[in-house]
Amino acid sequence: MNTLYEAADFLKQKGIHEPFAGIVLGTGLHQFIHYINNPVVIPYSDIPNFPLSTVEFHKGNLIYGNIGEKKVLAMQGRFHFYEGYTMQQVVFPIRVMKLLGIQYLLLTNAAGGINLNFKKGDLALINDHINLQTGNPLTGKNIDALGSRFPDMSEPYNKYLCNVLQQAADKLNVPLKEGVYAAVNGPNLETKAEYRYLKIIGADMVGMSTVPEVIAANHAQLPCAAVSVITDECDPDNLQPINNIAEIIEVAGKADKQLSQILYQTILSL
Ligand code: HPA
Repeated sequence: MNTLYEAADFLKQKGIHEPFAGIVLGTGLHQFIHYINNPVVIPYSDIPNFPLSTVEFHKGNLIYGNIGEKKVLAMQGRFHFYEGYTMQQVVFPIRVMKLLGIQYLLLTNAAGGINLNFKKGDLALINDHINLQTGNPLTGKNIDALGSRFPDMSEPYNKYLCNVLQQAADKLNVPLKEGVYAAVNGPNLETKAEYRYLKIIGADMVGMSTVPEVIAANHAQLPCAAVSVITDECDPDNLQPINNIAEIIEVAGKADKQLSQILYQTILSL
């Protein structure tokens, strides 16, 4: 807990005061930061106890500034379990943002489409998840100052936030699909048999992030919602090899503008 307070105190000294919302920008999704007015950029490497971003294309910065009248705190790049961080490190920034006073958390990610109605470049609201990762940020001694030992997960994605996201998409005329996100460790993509399995168990999309952060947010009673960009179509009967992760990032980049507009409109409407 002390390490969390140290990071939060440092950020307060840097002028970060009671941000209204926290935003996590996933792989290939950075455009939202251009919507932030009067940005203050704080590299993760400056923040005490913050894990360091290891993957080159995840720029590691916290960006604080205005969306309209509201203050927001955006994470440009997140920490993944597959990079070797512990689950506690993966959720460290979420907990710091909670201590700083965010009232809402909006998460984004790149995901594979298991539901074959989801096409490359589509956006999909996550309405529930299946956690297939082998770690959990809540293992070990419970941090009672943050939340309870056995947090409820009957509605991990806040209904009100999901509705506001959906209305923002409608207003912008951007189709927003909806479905269940399965979280896997990665970093390898899945086999055909695994994609088949994911479909059978009820997943609409699959990715390597977000769920630990959602668990930490629910633990801390922080309302959250998440949107995936579908970057590849995971049809086990017609699976196209992905030889280069750049392909995934490129698809994410194409949907980035629409997603950024949805986030912007959502924050204005909250
Ligand atoms: N599997 C896991 N994670 C992913 C995928 C996928 O197919 N696409 C983007 N992230």
